[in-house]
Amino acid sequence: MTIPTVPLPGGGAMPLLGFGTWQIQGPKAYEAVRDALEAGYRHLDTATMYGNEAEVGRALKNSGVPRDEVFVTTKLPPQRAGHERATLDASLKALGVGAVDLWLIHWPPNRGRSVAVWREFVLARDEGRARAIGVSNYGVDEIDELTAATGVPPAVNQIRFGPSLYDPKLVTQHRERGVVVEGYSPFKTTNLHDPVLTRIAAAHGVDPARVVLRWHIQREIVVIPKSITPERITSNAAVDGFTLTDDEMAAIDGLSRAR
Ligand SMILES: NC(=O)c1ccc[n+]([C@@H]2O[C@H](COP(=O)([O-])OP(=O)(O)OC[C@H]3O[C@@H](n4cnc5c(N)ncnc54)[C@H](OP(=O)(O)O)[C@@H]3O)[C@@H](O)[C@H]2O)c1
Repeated sequence: MTIPTVPLPGGGAMPLLGFGTWQIQGPKAYEAVRDALEAGYRHLDTATMYGNEAEVGRALKNSGVPRDEVFVTTKLPPQRAGHERATLDASLKALGVGAVDLWLIHWPPNRGRSVAVWREFVLARDEGRARAIGVSNYGVDEIDELTAATGVPPAVNQIRFGPSLYDPKLVTQHRERGVVVEGYSPFKTTNLHDPVLTRIAAAHGVDPARVVLRWHIQREIVVIPKSITPERITSNAAVDGFTLTDDEMAAIDGLSRAR
């Protein structure tokens, strides 16, 4: 399986498909991440808040997949503003890695503390403890505030995304700023029984979930589906054996309620 990547500003590349781990903890998290790596995912999305970094790290280590072949993202909870260094240290220790590939501010912190947090992120990147830094759940104005204050734009903004939320203008605004869009909750935001998706899925002999993932990849939006079901973990990874036509892409764009 070949998973396409998107270049990150400042170097490196991010696989367009990753494995989401929210609401998976303990042995289930370990098993799911082992299954995901076995199925071919080479990108894992976790967060301090998910309480599963140790299981993600253990699964990565025991998988036998070399560390440098897996893109690992974690996130700082906004309540940890002012404690950035200790929080990243704890993440690195739990994950058992010397650096993460991407460290995100999980949500904008309160009381205008975003710029101060971002300065700590820039420091962590400069020190090599996070290879790339970004944000999550930020608006374009909030991104501009960080860039104006530091000269360093976030490499990525991870936002709730899916065909129903597709807003080409918002995607363009990110691209104009050199910010990669990463979408989360691709299935929770989608009616997988929608006739547009079932028709296209049948035409390619795949399930609607894979059509949704393939649509993200062809739009160059990073997508990070979560599953604890081994068959789904495997089938969600099989997104490279078919290509959606321009008409099919446009039909899926048409599911958007965001325009
Ligand atoms: N930055 C943020 O604030 C933020 C917020 C939310 C999520 N995220 C990240 O994004 C990841 C994905 O989002 P998410 O977990 O909210 O939701 P999601 O990936 O959209 O949906 C997960 C749900 O879809 C089901 N599912 C998985 N594969 C399926 C398939 N092939 N067919 C039908 N149903 C399927 C899963 O069931 P089973 O597990 O039972 O198979 C689970 O109930 C998270 O895990 C997390 O890493 C980030």
